[in-house]
Amino acid sequence: MSEVTEPTLLIDRFGRRVNYLRISVTDRCDFRCLYCMEETMTFLPRAQILTLEEIYALAKAFTELGVEKIRITGGEPLVRNGVLQLVEQVAELPGLIELVMTTNGSQLEKFAKPLSDAGIKRLNISLDTLNAGKFKILTRNGDLKTVLKGIEAAKKAGFHRLKINAVILKNRNHDEVADLVRFAIKHEIDISFIEEMPLGVVSQHNRYEAYYSSEEIKQDLLQQFTLLPSTTKTGGPSNYFQVQGTGTRVGFISPHSHNFCSDCNRVRLTAEGRLLLCLGNEHSMDMKQVLRANPGNHEIVKQAIIQAMQIKPEKHEFVLSDQPVILRHMNVTGG
Ligand code: GTP
Ligand code: 5AD
Ligand code: SF4
Repeated sequence: MSEVTEPTLLIDRFGRRVNYLRISVTDRCDFRCLYCMEETMTFLPRAQILTLEEIYALAKAFTELGVEKIRITGGEPLVRNGVLQLVEQVAELPGLIELVMTTNGSQLEKFAKPLSDAGIKRLNISLDTLNAGKFKILTRNGDLKTVLKGIEAAKKAGFHRLKINAVILKNRNHDEVADLVRFAIKHEIDISFIEEMPLGVVSQHNRYEAYYSSEEIKQDLLQQFTLLPSTTKTGGPSNYFQVQGTGTRVGFISPHSHNFCSDCNRVRLTAEGRLLLCLGNEHSMDMKQVLRANPGNHEIVKQAIIQAMQIKPEKHEFVLSDQPVILRHMNVTGG
């Protein structure tokens, strides 16, 4: 009888199984959201970012090591040339159950259908406000109408589910949480509210003062909606509730008020090829170096990934203050 060998799985020192990889395909973005970036940013030079072939090789290695869910992020992933081809190839990898994307929606009118055809199953679209003036201020140069048209295009494109991500800041958009939920209900999509994280220096607001907790948001919503606890798990950090009488789920991503690190199942690949073991720490493995020093040697790449699990930190230590804990901005990791 031939022996069946179990595939090697990625397990860290705390017994957590890593089955979710987030790939940032570019650090560039056509928006400059206040909580994510500074107005003037220096982006990576082309030569320093992974080629699409290198990204594919790493995605393949991860799926061979038991990764079942891959999320393509940025910056804004749709500003990277060739991203559709990459999606098509990654979608075909054996073992991959779900290929998903997080986008700011600015290019969706054009890309929604091709992305769905290429194999993206679910899309998360960032939308923090429904007021065009506020949208311009929060994104510094985004156009709300374009994103709304993008959401319409996505609704028609055949994705399994769509979700809005809204980062809520006190005195900027905290008064819009019920309107955003109503928007989600009207469009039959889900929505997650995110507590801002202290990643990178931002100069336009004080993060301590702008903190608006998931609990406050929930209390605001309970004035107008009935939220039923939901057992839904997407493999992401959202804690979900069903809005009674609707198909919409409301999720809360609460890195400050509800630490979810003990269930962490994910790692991140930056556009530069750093494998980051935690969003809130700097522990990383330089996969670009491993790839470029060992051309064509797939086994060495897999061994490096397995080793990297040994330095995955137990948890993030975000503190609420006006100074960031981590100097890397969110556009480097795509959330
Ligand atoms: P689903 O698969 O739809 O559940 O998505 P997701 O919530 O995993 O992905 P999404 O890109 O929508 O993530 C939303 C936000 O959650 C990210 O942008 C981050 O701000 C936050 N987030 C995701 N993973 C982590 C994590 O490991 N740690 C922390 N602190 N925040 C995270
Ligand atoms: N804190 C929390 N969420 C952030 N995002 C960007 N920067 C931050 C931050 N500092 C969100 C975006 C998007 C997702 C990828 O990450 O709004 O929804
Ligand atoms: Fe771009 Fe997303 Fe950062 Fe906004 S949050 S600047 S859309 S990467």
